[in-house]
Amino acid sequence: MKQTMGISTSDFQFLRELVYKHSAVVLHADKTYLAELYLQPIAESAGFATIADLVNYLKTQPFSSLHSQVIESLVTNETSFFRDYHPFEALKKYVLPELIDKKAIERSLNIWCAACSHGQEPYSIAMLIKEHFPILANWSVKIIASDFSSKVLARARQGRYNQLEIQRGLPKNLRDRYFQQLDRDWQIHEEILQMVEFRQINLIQSWPYFPKSDAIFLRNVLIYFDIPTKKALLKKIKQQLSPDGYLFLGNAETTINLDASFKRVQFDKAICYRLNN
Ligand SMILES: C[S@@+](CC[C@H](N)C(=O)[O-])C[C@H]1O[C@@H](n2cnc3c(N)ncnc32)[C@H](O)[C@@H]1O
Repeated sequence: MKQTMGISTSDFQFLRELVYKHSAVVLHADKTYLAELYLQPIAESAGFATIADLVNYLKTQPFSSLHSQVIESLVTNETSFFRDYHPFEALKKYVLPELIDKKAIERSLNIWCAACSHGQEPYSIAMLIKEHFPILANWSVKIIASDFSSKVLARARQGRYNQLEIQRGLPKNLRDRYFQQLDRDWQIHEEILQMVEFRQINLIQSWPYFPKSDAIFLRNVLIYFDIPTKKALLKKIKQQLSPDGYLFLGNAETTINLDASFKRVQFDKAICYRLNN
């Protein structure tokens, strides 16, 4: 018979601290049931009889890939193609045309998706560029997509999505043009895959050097951080954003009351942020 795999309050508190220390994500106390759901298969496949045994191991052993696996499983990586639609319309109608104009001499464009999860966000940008900006074919266009989780990055690098994922946000004409069916999944074409460079970057640790970004997508990750972390991160983002650049946040996120160096810009139904130069 299966053991009961519940999590005690003190074990959950340990897990919250572990996740916070390594990702800055604040797990709310009402997420215990989700933790049980995600940790049960990890405990089973690592050979522990109960989640309590797994947590005891994590508590007593040096940091290992099992710790990373547990942390990554507890952090939300919900995403979809062209998520929320409007930011991508703003990118297409206003932001990219303006940047192309401003950077016509150097002909280079750097875009960073700073918490890219399974890759739908950077691939949406790559498809949008391929579809609507043939002029950029002769430019140096770098789309860097990063996440702290090696698990989500491994999937993102594959560019392979199941039917459910492919149906979320991706217009059928783009699916037919840029994906090929592989068994029950869909594989993104090499030409789009090649446009995105994936890197492992933890937003709360030091970042490797890369050129300033003309557009930063930092979407649906600030919401999981506390106020000091949001402030510290926006301070670093400010250094990474080029003076003419645009910052895109998630619908429930803002720089307001966190960092006065950004100003809010509205394009139709999309909000983005620029530096107060
Ligand atoms: C909810 S997803 C958002 C994905 C995408 N940006 C979107 O809006 O659809 C949040 C992502 O942030 C990543 N994340 C959480 N904490 C992070 C950190 N400290 N550094 C980098 N990525 C982090 C998670 O692994 C997850 O993939």
